[in-house]
Amino acid sequence: MMPLTENKKEAYEKRVPKATRDEPMSKHTSFRVGGTARLHVVANSSEALIEAVTAALECDVPFFLYGGGSNLLVSDDGYEGVMIQAANRGLSFDGERMKAESGVITGMAARQSVEHGLGGFEWAIGVPGTIGGAVFGNAGCYGGEIKDSLESVEVFDLNAHEKKIMTHTECAFAYRESLFKHHPYLILSATFRFKPNADIAAGKARMNEIMKTRKEKQPLEASSAGCAFKNPPGHSAGQLIDSLSLKGLKIGDIQVSDKHANFLVNRGQATAQDIITIISVIKMKVRDELGVQLEEEVQLAGF
Ligand code: EPU
Repeated sequence: MMPLTENKKEAYEKRVPKATRDEPMSKHTSFRVGGTARLHVVANSSEALIEAVTAALECDVPFFLYGGGSNLLVSDDGYEGVMIQAANRGLSFDGERMKAESGVITGMAARQSVEHGLGGFEWAIGVPGTIGGAVFGNAGCYGGEIKDSLESVEVFDLNAHEKKIMTHTECAFAYRESLFKHHPYLILSATFRFKPNADIAAGKARMNEIMKTRKEKQPLEASSAGCAFKNPPGHSAGQLIDSLSLKGLKIGDIQVSDKHANFLVNRGQATAQDIITIISVIKMKVRDELGVQLEEEVQLAGF
């Protein structure tokens, strides 16, 4: 990446005075890996988010938007631009509906939905990251997916410079896929519609059960970015990697988890380069030996 010039940094700081310099991204990612963002902004409201991004466009500063940092790999050289964290955390309820701003922690929204007597979002209790990230990637687990209960998404269209409401159909959801991966829309909030009058105690019990299963099957105690690869059609990536006896494989300080083969865990000092290398090795082995092409689920920044 081209180094970000001092002039551009100053122009951006003038527009967004709360921007900070040389922020270590290892502090903001669940992998605990990554160099510094030349500029970094924590956007505490949807308006601040719009301002942080439009300023980047107008100052010709590359930007990368992230939420919880739980599905993100930042290069060791960091990011020559501004990393913008969505920390707009408004959450409100109206009858069967829940409106969550994109920076709301998904697990927190799941817990609140149950407390409000709503059913259908219990599955999301253990989903790392934010609502914006969950909508962006159509997150799913334990029989649920974002698209099942989502009604609409409020976005800021970066081309038209206006807010828009995208209906469920317009979001073009598929497995770990959405319109938002392909269009310059900033996700501001999402409105969900759940089942009313749900049994609160039963909802809590379901969430506890999910967390118990998750802890048994996934290395939640270690630093990782969740599943590294998407499940290819008709297969489980974890099962494929496991079948090649790759559990425990270590490159530098990154290791294929012994608990779940689709998790790469940082044993302490892993670098982004180690992670890119292990991803390539796994993809090559699965392709050569099983004839299946794996695709990363983690988002890459600064490569
Ligand atoms: N399996 C193995 N070895 C392993 C891991 C799994 O043989 O090392 C087998 C399991 O025994 C099971 C099958 O593979 O028969 C599926 O495994 P699991 O139930 O753990 O689900 P998964 O397909 O590996 C998906 C999501 C997870 C989500 C779980 C639970 C993807 C890529 N992964 O995993 O999501 O938590 O289902 O619903 O879609 C994530 O996206 O970051 C993530 C962790």
